[in-house]
Amino acid sequence: MAASSRRRSRFVRSPDDHEHGRVLAREFDRAAAGFAERTRGRFDDMDVVEFSRVGPSDTVVEVGAGTGNFLALFASAAARLVALDITPAMLKQAREHHRGLHLVVGDGLRLPFASAGVELAASAQALHHVTQPVPFLIELRRIAARTGRVLVVDQVATERYEELAAMNELERLRDPSHAASRPPSAFRIMLWAAGLRIVDERIVTAVDRLSKWMWPGEFPPERIDAVAAFIALRGAQTGMKFERDADDWVFERRRIMLLAERA
Ligand SMILES: C[S@@+](CC[C@H](N)C(=O)[O-])C[C@H]1O[C@@H](n2cnc3c(N)ncnc32)[C@H](O)[C@@H]1O
Repeated sequence: MAASSRRRSRFVRSPDDHEHGRVLAREFDRAAAGFAERTRGRFDDMDVVEFSRVGPSDTVVEVGAGTGNFLALFASAAARLVALDITPAMLKQAREHHRGLHLVVGDGLRLPFASAGVELAASAQALHHVTQPVPFLIELRRIAARTGRVLVVDQVATERYEELAAMNELERLRDPSHAASRPPSAFRIMLWAAGLRIVDERIVTAVDRLSKWMWPGEFPPERIDAVAAFIALRGAQTGMKFERDADDWVFERRRIMLLAERA
């Protein structure tokens, strides 16, 4: 895989995107230290490796790899694992938590990789931080080999517009770098628009709780209070199935897994 750092992006960022980029950098810089620990194990029951159909000589690139917890699932299944992320502090944690990952600082909208060079181009829990999801997916498609695949994993909203809007309001209160949680239908359309054909799809539901979703060490206390107040008032409108559990809230986290190839 040859790097081509001088190649200019075909995708132009708007002033809004630059502001979003600044917020994203600030949030993940702050979150990095606690993130690997807080999110450890969240993919363990999803059979990600089997779903992805990777082979032992394959290269897997994850865009938005963060602290490496997702990519590390492929450690004994693929030959080479490349973690790309825009936030250096997240990759620093990846180096500390996982051996054998090749770390690259970069932007998913301008990947420093040659075209058609990797067997699996993946993205997990990153698209909801991306304001331009289709250009991001086009870059994943570009680096995937002709016989390769693109894997997308992300949280989903319900198909009801009012619930989707309330969920995104809550998510942005929790993390201002949140761009959008989207319904499954939007993912299908985005992949189609990026020139990808879906070959497999799965929705996985897990139970989460507010005290884990917002670890006190990772989030400012006033933000935790604001989110708890929002849930008490409007949690039922989000489609996330919040239920009170003593001082805490439990809720449903639904994720979509999509495996696609070039259309
Ligand atoms: C919620 S974390 C997920 C990390 C990892 N994939 C996981 O699931 O454990 C989202 C990551 O996406 C990264 N990210 C967001 N926008 C990006 C972009 N345009 N290019 C590369 N990385 C990006 C953030 O820096 C962050 O590390």
